[in-house]
Amino acid sequence: LLPQIKSLAANENDLIANLANVCAALKFGMNFLWVGFYLVKNNELVLGPFQGPIACTRIAIGKGVCGIAWQKQKTIIVEDVAKFPGHISCSSLSKSEIVIPVFDKNKNVIAVLDVDSDNLNSFDKTDELYLKEIVSLVRF
Ligand code: SME
Repeated sequence: LLPQIKSLAANENDLIANLANVCAALKFGMNFLWVGFYLVKNNELVLGPFQGPIACTRIAIGKGVCGIAWQKQKTIIVEDVAKFPGHISCSSLSKSEIVIPVFDKNKNVIAVLDVDSDNLNSFDKTDELYLKEIVSLVRF
């Protein structure tokens, strides 16, 4: 997926357009259940471009996996969402997830990338590595 996303993002500087294509490439390239971005707006996360079932639209800082990844400014990998205290369930099909904070040039978190799987234990450090690389191809 990296060359595909690299060429898509290299020829387009609109943020939403690029995030939308990243979601589609990941969703259909990897067959994940849900792939999407939540964008930081007025001190909360608001649903941005995504692919998959409908999702909750707003998440407060420190809430759910996304809100904690934002607050702690680090990637969170959840092997089993049923065992993660405070997990926000948007789809009962979601069993594991990874959330990666997205930083701007000033090192502020401006979004998070959330990827959900309908299998347990779908994500590890390799997913973290390449998802971070994919996000880094988009200019923020
Ligand atoms: N599970 C996330 C909420 C977003 S949905 O999975 C699309 C969370 O706990 O933050």
